[in-house]
Amino acid sequence: MVQFKQNIRGNVALGVNPLGLKQEVLNEIDYVKNKGPYEAPKKVLIIGASSSYGLATRISLAFGAGADTIGLSYEKGPKSERNLGTAGWYNNIAFKEEAEKEGLIAKNFVMDAFSHESKQEVIDYIKNEFGGKVDLVVYSLASGRRTDPDTGETYMSSIKAIGEPVVGPNINMQKQTFFTETLDPATDQEIHDTVKVMGGEDWELWMRALKEADVLTEGVLTTNYSYLGTELNHPYYGGGTLGRAKADCDEKADNINALLKDINGKALIVVATAVTTKASSVIPFFPVYCIGLYKIMDEKGTHETPIMHQDRIYREMIYGSNPEYDEMGRLRPDSWELDSDTQAKTKELIMKLNDGNFNSDMTAYDIFYKEFSNLSGFMVDNYEEQDVTIEELKALEY
Ligand code: NAI
Repeated sequence: MVQFKQNIRGNVALGVNPLGLKQEVLNEIDYVKNKGPYEAPKKVLIIGASSSYGLATRISLAFGAGADTIGLSYEKGPKSERNLGTAGWYNNIAFKEEAEKEGLIAKNFVMDAFSHESKQEVIDYIKNEFGGKVDLVVYSLASGRRTDPDTGETYMSSIKAIGEPVVGPNINMQKQTFFTETLDPATDQEIHDTVKVMGGEDWELWMRALKEADVLTEGVLTTNYSYLGTELNHPYYGGGTLGRAKADCDEKADNINALLKDINGKALIVVATAVTTKASSVIPFFPVYCIGLYKIMDEKGTHETPIMHQDRIYREMIYGSNPEYDEMGRLRPDSWELDSDTQAKTKELIMKLNDGNFNSDMTAYDIFYKEFSNLSGFMVDNYEEQDVTIEELKALEY
């Protein structure tokens, strides 16, 4: 029998519990089903579908709106008892199993979304097996590297400040410590490379390829998740390399809007709220912001996990009656996070934190740690231990 061990290095999770991940997917499906059905597109492509925001989007649209989905991700399967692969691998499997029980198409592609080949494979699948067209394309990639499909050059993204170094508090979940960290400013090359990886270039390439292949419906929508944040994280997010990449997505949304004009399509930047994900837990200082923010939002009843946030975005905002847009036409579900009282109280709380109290009742460290653990299948609600062999895990098909 395989022993599942939660293994954290710094703020990176290494071990996974495949059965816990399955239960977490089931919990998210229950959340959506309990809200009841809603009307939304029925043929959806999700690029970056295997975890957090992309997975939550897929679950909401499939189990809330009855959508057939194609999910693209870059994940690894099990090799041995010591190397069980990545969480997203098992999320893909659990999602597919449950969606197919409902009679929905749930096609998983595990390959590099940045390549021309993956775009072509997805297009062929849409044409030959998915009814010919998609009416919603969700772009939810988060990656540390990208190989340009035309030049073959590989770019790495960096999470850095721009101009001045930033000094601030961070936590280490492995060692349970609170410490001061300095984030160096990025070089021009690092800024450029981060925009290449996390900016909107690949989103636009996808939309051009899909449009050219004539697999987009009249009135197609494409969404891309952004983050703007507040003065509390501006020096290292909005004003840093990631902020530049997100600004690039705003620009590429304009290009895509021009591209889709003749089919009445639309590119929508969705400025999403801060949540605990694989990506966000390694952004310097961000976990400290989260443990303060979540405490205040939890008290106000506005704290959301990815499934709560994405379900609200599609059910109530994009395909509901309650959308909030800013002057640039971006959807702003992050308004709960940005609420001025929430921000003022978060700031006040964060200023009081130190090594002796950061993981006490004063903060939402417990919520952050649980959500972080859930991403790897640990501390999952309703989970019951079961025996499973490595052969059984290897036999699972995505
Ligand atoms: P995540 O790390 O949980 O998921 C990323 C997805 O991209 C996974 O499905 C992964 O397999 C896939 N992926 C990565 N590289 C790939 C490749 N080369 N080919 C195919 N698939 C690949 O990320 P998360 O946090 O859900 O982020 C998604 C988007 O949401 C990002 O644009 C992020 O900036 C944005 N966002 C995140 C917020 C947060 O607090 N985590 C807040 C607001 C926006």
